[in-house]
Amino acid sequence: MKWLGIILILHLMQNIKCEQSYEVTNERLEPFEGDSQTLVFFNNLKTVGRERALNGSFKFSGEMNNEDFKVSVELYSSPRGDGEFKRMAMDVPQTSICDCFKKFYVQFVQPSVKSGETTNFPLVDDDFCPVPEGDFYIKNVLFNTEDWPSQVPRGIVKAIITFFSGGENVGGLIVEVKIEDRES
Ligand SMILES: *[C@@H]1O[C@H](CO)[C@@H](O)[C@H](O)[C@H]1NC(C)=O
Repeated sequence: MKWLGIILILHLMQNIKCEQSYEVTNERLEPFEGDSQTLVFFNNLKTVGRERALNGSFKFSGEMNNEDFKVSVELYSSPRGDGEFKRMAMDVPQTSICDCFKKFYVQFVQPSVKSGETTNFPLVDDDFCPVPEGDFYIKNVLFNTEDWPSQVPRGIVKAIITFFSGGENVGGLIVEVKIEDRES
Protein backbone atom coordinates (compact mmCIF):
# COMPACT_ATOMS: atom_id res chain seq x y z
CA MET A 1 0.00 0.00 0.00
CA LYS A 2 2.81 2.35 0.93
CA TRP A 3 4.59 1.55 -2.37
CA LEU A 4 1.49 2.21 -4.34
CA GLY A 5 1.31 5.68 -2.81
CA ILE A 6 4.94 6.39 -3.66
CA ILE A 7 4.51 5.20 -7.23
CA LEU A 8 1.43 7.35 -7.60
CA ILE A 9 3.25 10.43 -6.32
CA LEU A 10 6.24 9.80 -8.60
CA HIS A 11 3.89 9.45 -11.52
CA LEU A 12 2.15 12.70 -10.67
CA MET A 13 5.46 14.53 -10.29
CA GLN A 14 6.54 13.34 -13.70
CA ASN A 15 3.40 14.71 -15.27
CA ILE A 16 3.78 18.00 -13.46
CA LYS A 17 7.36 18.40 -14.68
CA CYS A 18 6.20 18.48 -18.30
CA GLU A 19 3.62 21.16 -17.65
CA GLN A 20 5.16 24.57 -17.10
CA SER A 21 3.02 27.18 -15.40
CA TYR A 22 3.17 29.24 -18.59
CA GLU A 23 2.30 29.00 -22.26
CA VAL A 24 4.48 30.28 -25.08
CA THR A 25 3.19 31.57 -28.42
CA ASN A 26 5.23 32.74 -31.40
CA GLU A 27 4.54 36.42 -31.95
CA ARG A 28 7.06 37.54 -34.52
CA LEU A 29 9.97 36.24 -36.57
CA GLU A 30 12.23 38.65 -38.35
CA PRO A 31 15.41 37.65 -40.14
CA PHE A 32 18.20 40.16 -40.58
CA GLU A 33 21.19 40.34 -42.90
CA GLY A 34 24.86 40.44 -42.03
CA ASP A 35 27.06 43.52 -42.17
CA SER A 36 28.92 42.76 -45.39
CA GLN A 37 27.82 39.19 -46.11
CA THR A 38 24.98 36.92 -44.98
CA LEU A 39 25.68 33.25 -44.27
CA VAL A 40 22.52 32.28 -42.35
CA PHE A 41 19.05 32.69 -43.84
CA PHE A 42 15.82 32.56 -41.85
CA ASN A 43 13.59 34.39 -44.33
CA ASN A 44 11.53 31.29 -45.20
CA LEU A 45 10.53 30.66 -41.63
CA LYS A 46 6.96 31.68 -40.78
CA THR A 47 4.36 31.22 -38.10
CA VAL A 48 1.28 29.48 -39.44
CA GLY A 49 -2.27 28.73 -38.33
CA ARG A 50 -4.21 29.73 -35.28
CA GLU A 51 -1.62 28.15 -33.03
CA ARG A 52 1.17 30.09 -34.73
CA ALA A 53 3.34 27.04 -35.28
CA LEU A 54 6.81 27.44 -36.77
CA ASN A 55 6.91 26.34 -40.38
CA GLY A 56 9.20 26.67 -43.35
CA SER A 57 12.93 26.38 -43.74
CA PHE A 58 16.24 27.98 -42.87
CA LYS A 59 19.56 27.82 -44.65
CA PHE A 60 23.21 27.82 -43.67
CA SER A 61 25.27 28.61 -46.78
CA GLY A 62 28.41 26.91 -45.47
CA GLU A 63 29.61 24.62 -42.75
CA MET A 64 30.29 26.54 -39.51
CA ASN A 65 33.13 25.40 -37.27
CA ASN A 66 33.58 26.13 -33.58
CA GLU A 67 36.74 28.24 -34.03
CA ASP A 68 35.58 30.87 -36.52
CA PHE A 69 31.86 31.08 -35.81
CA LYS A 70 30.09 32.49 -32.80
CA VAL A 71 26.52 33.22 -31.76
CA SER A 72 25.18 35.79 -29.33
CA VAL A 73 21.68 36.06 -27.88
CA GLU A 74 20.37 39.34 -26.50
CA LEU A 75 17.17 39.08 -24.50
CA TYR A 76 14.62 41.81 -23.92
CA SER A 77 11.40 41.73 -21.96
CA SER A 78 8.22 43.77 -22.38
CA PRO A 79 6.08 42.83 -19.36
CA ARG A 80 3.00 44.67 -20.64
CA GLY A 81 3.58 43.62 -24.24
CA ASP A 82 3.37 47.25 -25.32
CA GLY A 83 6.61 47.37 -27.27
CA GLU A 84 8.63 48.89 -24.46
CA PHE A 85 11.51 46.50 -23.97
CA LYS A 86 14.04 46.26 -21.19
CA ARG A 87 17.26 44.29 -21.52
CA MET A 88 17.22 41.09 -19.47
CA ALA A 89 20.11 39.92 -17.31
CA MET A 90 20.34 36.48 -18.95
CA ASP A 91 22.05 37.48 -22.20
CA VAL A 92 24.36 35.03 -23.94
CA PRO A 93 27.60 36.78 -24.98
CA GLN A 94 29.33 35.73 -28.22
CA THR A 95 29.81 31.98 -27.73
CA SER A 96 31.50 29.47 -30.05
CA ILE A 97 28.80 28.16 -32.34
CA CYS A 98 28.86 24.43 -31.53
CA ASP A 99 28.93 25.14 -27.79
CA CYS A 100 25.99 27.47 -28.28
CA PHE A 101 23.96 24.82 -30.12
CA LYS A 102 24.78 22.20 -27.48
CA LYS A 103 23.62 24.49 -24.73
CA PHE A 104 20.72 26.46 -26.12
CA TYR A 105 19.37 24.63 -29.16
CA VAL A 106 19.34 21.45 -27.04
CA GLN A 107 17.41 23.13 -24.22
CA PHE A 108 15.05 25.44 -26.07
CA VAL A 109 14.45 23.99 -29.53
CA GLN A 110 15.42 20.33 -29.75
CA PRO A 111 12.65 19.05 -27.42
CA SER A 112 10.12 20.59 -29.80
CA VAL A 113 11.32 18.87 -32.99
CA LYS A 114 11.75 15.31 -34.20
CA SER A 115 14.76 14.64 -36.44
CA GLY A 116 13.60 13.15 -39.73
CA GLU A 117 9.98 14.06 -39.07
CA THR A 118 9.39 17.68 -38.19
CA THR A 119 12.92 18.74 -39.14
CA ASN A 120 15.85 17.39 -41.14
CA PHE A 121 18.31 19.30 -38.97
CA PRO A 122 20.59 16.69 -37.38
CA LEU A 123 20.27 15.73 -33.74
CA VAL A 124 22.57 17.90 -31.61
CA ASP A 125 24.52 15.68 -29.23
CA ASP A 126 27.93 15.93 -27.47
CA ASP A 127 29.81 15.21 -30.72
CA PHE A 128 27.85 17.74 -32.76
CA CYS A 129 30.27 19.97 -34.71
CA PRO A 130 30.65 21.67 -37.13
CA VAL A 131 27.19 23.10 -37.76
CA PRO A 132 26.38 21.64 -41.20
CA GLU A 133 25.73 23.52 -44.40
CA GLY A 134 22.29 23.03 -45.86
CA ASP A 135 18.63 23.85 -46.27
CA PHE A 136 16.67 22.62 -43.29
CA TYR A 137 12.91 22.35 -42.94
CA ILE A 138 10.76 22.81 -39.86
CA LYS A 139 7.24 21.44 -40.16
CA ASN A 140 4.51 22.98 -38.00
CA VAL A 141 6.44 23.00 -34.75
CA LEU A 142 5.04 24.28 -31.46
CA PHE A 143 7.37 24.95 -28.54
CA ASN A 144 7.67 22.17 -26.03
CA THR A 145 8.76 24.07 -22.91
CA GLU A 146 9.50 20.98 -20.82
CA ASP A 147 13.21 21.85 -20.46
CA TRP A 148 12.75 25.60 -20.29
CA PRO A 149 13.37 27.41 -16.98
CA SER A 150 10.43 27.39 -14.58
CA GLN A 151 10.83 31.12 -13.94
CA VAL A 152 10.34 33.22 -17.05
CA PRO A 153 8.97 36.75 -17.30
CA ARG A 154 5.40 37.12 -18.53
CA GLY A 155 4.60 39.37 -21.46
CA ILE A 156 6.64 39.55 -24.64
CA VAL A 157 10.22 38.26 -24.68
CA LYS A 158 12.40 39.20 -27.61
CA ALA A 159 15.55 37.29 -28.50
CA ILE A 160 18.03 38.73 -30.98
CA ILE A 161 20.14 35.84 -32.22
CA THR A 162 23.22 36.99 -34.13
CA PHE A 163 25.71 34.81 -35.97
CA PHE A 164 29.33 35.96 -36.30
CA SER A 165 32.18 34.84 -38.53
CA GLY A 166 35.63 36.18 -37.69
CA GLY A 167 33.95 38.71 -35.39
CA GLU A 168 31.65 40.05 -38.10
CA ASN A 169 27.83 39.85 -38.05
CA VAL A 170 26.76 37.41 -40.80
CA GLY A 171 23.03 37.49 -40.19
CA GLY A 172 20.50 36.25 -37.71
CA LEU A 173 16.98 36.19 -36.45
CA ILE A 174 14.77 38.17 -34.10
CA VAL A 175 12.19 36.03 -32.32
CA GLU A 176 9.40 37.41 -30.17
CA VAL A 177 7.31 35.08 -28.05
CA LYS A 178 4.34 35.79 -25.82
CA ILE A 179 4.48 34.18 -22.39
CA GLU A 180 1.26 33.87 -20.45
CA ASP A 181 0.14 32.06 -17.33
CA ARG A 182 -1.35 28.72 -18.20
CA GLU A 183 -5.08 28.61 -17.67
CA SER A 184 -5.99 25.71 -15.47
C1 LIG B 1 4.91 25.18 -44.44
O1 LIG B 1 6.15 25.26 -45.13
C2 LIG B 1 6.20 24.49 -46.33
C3 LIG B 1 7.62 24.55 -46.85
O2 LIG B 1 8.10 25.86 -46.95
C4 LIG B 1 5.17 25.05 -47.31
O3 LIG B 1 5.20 24.29 -48.50
C5 LIG B 1 3.80 25.01 -46.68
O4 LIG B 1 2.87 25.61 -47.54
C6 LIG B 1 3.81 25.74 -45.34
N1 LIG B 1 2.51 25.57 -44.68
C7 LIG B 1 1.72 26.60 -44.40
C8 LIG B 1 0.45 26.27 -43.71
O5 LIG B 1 2.02 27.75 -44.67
